[in-house]
Amino acid sequence: MVQQGGDSSSTLEVRDVTIRFEGLTAIDQVNETVTPGEILGLIGPNGAGKTTLVNTMTGFQEPTVGDVLLDGTSVRKVNAHQLRRMGVSRTFQAGRLFREMSVVENVEVAGVGMGLRRAAAHKEATKLLDWIGLSDRANVLAGALPYTDERRVGIARALIQSPKFMLLDEPAAGMSDLECDDLMKLVQRVRDEFGCGIVLIEHNMRVVMGVCERIHVLDSGRTIARGTPGEVQKNPAVIEAYLGKG
Ligand SMILES: Nc1ncnc2c1ncn2[C@@H]1O[C@H](COP(=O)(O)OP(=O)(O)OP(=O)(O)O)[C@@H](O)[C@H]1O
Ligand SMILES: [Mg+2]
Repeated sequence: MVQQGGDSSSTLEVRDVTIRFEGLTAIDQVNETVTPGEILGLIGPNGAGKTTLVNTMTGFQEPTVGDVLLDGTSVRKVNAHQLRRMGVSRTFQAGRLFREMSVVENVEVAGVGMGLRRAAAHKEATKLLDWIGLSDRANVLAGALPYTDERRVGIARALIQSPKFMLLDEPAAGMSDLECDDLMKLVQRVRDEFGCGIVLIEHNMRVVMGVCERIHVLDSGRTIARGTPGEVQKNPAVIEAYLGKG
């Protein structure tokens, strides 16, 4: 399979990033660096700024202040399409599949978008669907998939882009415990077999605590805690942020 991850010297970094939308500061002086092979959890209450931060790390949102660096070089002005080609892929909070296309075509077009020829993209998409356990759904219309499978297709679409970094926006939302267990295994397999650095936005604490080595907690755009799952769980500022907002 096409693989790009595994270069342990690679880094994806946000440096003193602030993002303002008119009057609102969605991200306030946040710093973080991700390296291949690690799974970083990005958590915080609704509206904390998680998606906005991931948008910035993936070229969808230019920071108002601060910088985004890939391997030490500023990519602040690099758009999402270019950044994907440089090895930074993501999934979206809402599936964003082409509903009128088949599952394999959805993965294939992501490969074509990366410059693969159609036949090569089809071959790669087929391999990835097999790897992810969806080969029996390859020819089903994406619009007919249950959301658990939709998320897996989203991950396959990101994988065909040969990412060094993969940013997942709430992949477990709405999943049962059993489905969450499968997702956790999948995230670990992506890390282990593709060598990607993973940023996982997730509200499901069982998933976050189960797969992340390191956690970054945002509240109202600010970093309120960073640490291991154990450290973050007992941090009073984190408990307050969650309880305070119900
Ligand atoms: N394009 C935008 N224009 C204006 N405000 C925005 C925009 N995008 C996000 N915001 C605001 O920025 C803040 C952070 O939003 P964001 O979507 O990053 O939060 P989140 O942590 O991902 O929340 P959730 O857990 O609900 O997904 C919110 O107050 C949101 O309304
Ligand atoms: Mg969000």
